[in-house]
Amino acid sequence: MRATNGHVPRPRFHFTPQRNWMNDPNGLVYDRGLWHLYFQYNPEGADWGNMSWGHATSADLRHWTEHEVALRYRDGEQIFSGSVVATPVASAAGSASAGADSADDETLLTAFYTSAYDDDHQAQSRAISRDGGYTWEPDSQNPVLDRGTSAFRDPKVIRFTDDDGTTRYVMLTVEADDRQVLFYSSSDLRSWQFLSSFGPLGDTGVVWECPDLVPLAVDGDPDDTRWVLLLSTNPVGDDPDAAGSSMSYIIGAFDGVSFTPDASELTRLDHGRDFYAGVTFDSAPDGEAVMLGWMSNWRYAGAFPSSPWRGAMSLPRRMSLRTVAGTVRLVQQPVGFVGELLAGAVPSTVSGASRLADFTLSGHSLVELEWDPASTGTLRLQLRGDADALVELSHEPSSNELSVTRSGAAMEAVHPDFPSTSTVALPGEGDRPLRLLVSLDGPLLEVFANDGEATVSNLVVLGVGPVSSTLTIERPGPVAVTVADVHSPEVGRRALELDGANR
Ligand code: FRU
Repeated sequence: MRATNGHVPRPRFHFTPQRNWMNDPNGLVYDRGLWHLYFQYNPEGADWGNMSWGHATSADLRHWTEHEVALRYRDGEQIFSGSVVATPVASAAGSASAGADSADDETLLTAFYTSAYDDDHQAQSRAISRDGGYTWEPDSQNPVLDRGTSAFRDPKVIRFTDDDGTTRYVMLTVEADDRQVLFYSSSDLRSWQFLSSFGPLGDTGVVWECPDLVPLAVDGDPDDTRWVLLLSTNPVGDDPDAAGSSMSYIIGAFDGVSFTPDASELTRLDHGRDFYAGVTFDSAPDGEAVMLGWMSNWRYAGAFPSSPWRGAMSLPRRMSLRTVAGTVRLVQQPVGFVGELLAGAVPSTVSGASRLADFTLSGHSLVELEWDPASTGTLRLQLRGDADALVELSHEPSSNELSVTRSGAAMEAVHPDFPSTSTVALPGEGDRPLRLLVSLDGPLLEVFANDGEATVSNLVVLGVGPVSSTLTIERPGPVAVTVADVHSPEVGRRALELDGANR
């Protein structure tokens, strides 16, 4: 067993940059068959700095091709987080019709990002791309939205259609230190009028970052659509919470001017330690809300021992609202390719004594477990690689709590606050059948409980090579186990080099 692990396997079905530092997803947009992912990127090193927008595209959200840096920092100005909207060229300067439905083959992409100036001043800037997102022209009038403040950032532009059918753009930004979301409106993506603000609310001692606002139908009913505000919060100050950064949401109503929450508190969006800055794609097919998050935590992001890359995106997640045990909850399910990988695998049902099964995973694996806690009692899944580390998932029927623990010397070596136990109370009584989807892709562990009713996302360091899994239950009972391994790395250097050579 190795106490520390100098090598972290590169994920195979998640996006990582070929090299250097990455944090938030930026400018997520679907345009003419391609998903564009821009991201906070340091073109020059493996630590945060020189912030620019890196760029990658995918036709299926699984295989990504990395491109040249899209928006580069310059002397005195870094390019912080923001968003992109796609508009048909003809209407780009006029009305704000939805780009996704357009049959036009010309699209204008407009990016909004935060200019973070060296004098501690942050304001919103704009750039356009006429070649489908590969090259960008910053606006000569930048910054286009400026309050003269120092933590005004993360513009996310969404669309809002009035009762009379007129669609306008709405920009959400934060005054991060004030824990406020500010809303602005525009009909031409050029001039922005202040609408309203939301917050502060919830924990003090945090900054608010990367807002998004997403309309979602409750239980698929288009006549019952609610607006879900997404927020990322990062502890700051003298005694910051050691659990570090995390995401929350709050369900409410949005009338095109202001957001009115249904509740007085934020709800945790993901119960692990490593899901941050999640935002949705503009113009996704069928109006679906597809989100990507950054799988790390500001508490220790700079200490994570992967190389020559640092930072990974989560699985793309489709969001919806579902009534569970009488409460409307945000549900997150991985997009289609994950189910397709699992559908190609043969389920086996194991039952019997307490130590139910031992199986070996490639370490780039999807594991689905289905069982009835009322008959099996506590269930545990332990994962071990060649590092001195353990990941343990457990479900306790009496409390209906799901826990994910990462422990051992290799986890401690990452950062003193890296070892952790994340616990989430699943909705309901704990006596209904349970389904867990466990995605492990190198250092990225994501657990989806009951088709996305709760998620737990964590970085882990298990070492290189295969991962041995042990499944135990308290009382004899059947557990259906399906395992799909992804054997070969499918996000390759070759794609990047070919792409670089082509451009
Ligand atoms: C969130 C964040 C954003 C900012 C960016 C800078 O992780 O702090 O608020 O725009 O990262 O890299």
